Amino acid sequence: MSIQKIALLTSGGDAPGMNAAIRSIVLAAHHYHLSTLGFHSGYNGLIDDESTELSLGDVNGIIHRGGTILKSARCPAMLTEEGLKKAAATLIKENVDALIVIGGDGSFSGLLALSKYWQGQVIGIPATIDNDIDGTDFSIGFSTAVNTGIEAIDKIRDTAEAFERIFIVELMGRHSGHITFNVGIACAAEQILSFENFSQVDEKAKLNQLANEIKHAQQNRHASYIIVIAENLWQGGAVKLSEQLKEYAGIECTACILGYMQRGGSPVAKDRILATKMGVAAVQNIMAGKNQIMIGEQNNQLIAFSLALAIKHQKKVSESLIAAQENILALTAQ
Ligand code: F6P
Repeated sequence: MSIQKIALLTSGGDAPGMNAAIRSIVLAAHHYHLSTLGFHSGYNGLIDDESTELSLGDVNGIIHRGGTILKSARCPAMLTEEGLKKAAATLIKENVDALIVIGGDGSFSGLLALSKYWQGQVIGIPATIDNDIDGTDFSIGFSTAVNTGIEAIDKIRDTAEAFERIFIVELMGRHSGHITFNVGIACAAEQILSFENFSQVDEKAKLNQLANEIKHAQQNRHASYIIVIAENLWQGGAVKLSEQLKEYAGIECTACILGYMQRGGSPVAKDRILATKMGVAAVQNIMAGKNQIMIGEQNNQLIAFSLALAIKHQKKVSESLIAAQENILALTAQ
């Protein structure tokens, strides 16, 4: 079957570099004489048949912009048969041959579910700041989010030093510690509390241990003390933890939630380049007849990876990073 029309959408939490991926898909599609339809606001645009034909002019001057020109959304309707049927009907009505979804695990699950109702090719491009997609070393947006976290904590460090304060900084990542661990290492955080090395089991003992380590560090040489913590790790998050440390050990901490600023901003070089490579590869894989795959990059090589396997959440934070923190850095920081 000859391919004439492809469609694309951005879905789930936006990630810096999504626009770079949109641009490269449109450019590659143009190269292969394909028309490109961009659906608005994630899968909602597919269900409601809201789209724009994307020309080269539409993707001029967007490579450096955060967010997504197509808008994004989470779409619970894709969990229903009715929603999936509507989405499939739109693709048939619009004569789409292949659909590219730029997003994370939830978006890829939606894409696989849609495949049961629509026969066209489906391709995923991993874009989430969480970096929790299997089959690719990095997802689009992760590097920028890490840099944003670093910049913010470097600034917090200045005021922490000036006031000799303890900060607990909460980072995003849903249930994965990639952002927290990498930012923590790069900011020389005195403590990194993430899913890989910390849990709330035995809460009192954990609070005691933390309190002892903080006190010990303060008696020694630390004018400032920064704890980074992954969101969803500790019930009540950074704010609750700071209250508990005050209550149980009399330690004053300032909680700071970096939150959505980690999702925004101009993508760093690594994300722009990754997104551009992946966008071109997605279109090339469509031309090669591939279906139900995600474009990944492993050891600097682009690959076509099974979409179904991409969402298994097997990818771990680098073991050497964890070992360095646990066995050497954390001990010397006290
Ligand atoms: O998946 C990206 C992410 O920013 C996570 O880090 C965070 O847990 C979640 O999205 C927040 O989702 P929402 O935008 O729906 O509040």
